[in-house]
Amino acid sequence: MAIYEKMNEYLSNLAVLNVKLHNLHWNVVGLQFVEIHEFTESIYDDLFEKYDAVAELIKIKGEKPLVRMVDYLEKASIKETDKDKFSTVEVLEILKEDLTKMKELATEIRNLADEAGEFVIVAEFEGHVEGYDKNLWFIEAMLTQ
Ligand SMILES: [Fe+2]
Repeated sequence: MAIYEKMNEYLSNLAVLNVKLHNLHWNVVGLQFVEIHEFTESIYDDLFEKYDAVAELIKIKGEKPLVRMVDYLEKASIKETDKDKFSTVEVLEILKEDLTKMKELATEIRNLADEAGEFVIVAEFEGHVEGYDKNLWFIEAMLTQ
């Protein structure tokens, strides 16, 4: 079913983002280091909780969550970066792009679930979209001079 394919793509993105966000968290440099270091930590903590919640929701529905890194790398629509040094603005631009993609995918899953009458999935993903909106607002405000 399309909805579970999308949820596994989303789960794969969460797995990739866990590693990618740690790269940003460790390797950001600049005057706002502490602020961005702490901001990226708040996001990876949040996404790691979502990683478990989404996999459990797939299980609750009697479907199979992907469990292997190799599958996550293949299915993820968010890609890793080869870089290992980032300015604070670069981090914010990467976050803006990736969280916008996550918001779009979460919205798509929410709408597919709504069409299928899966209101528990609707409720879960509405919360995700709300969280991305808040972080995207923070990012936009930080990028505005
Ligand atoms: Fe840390």
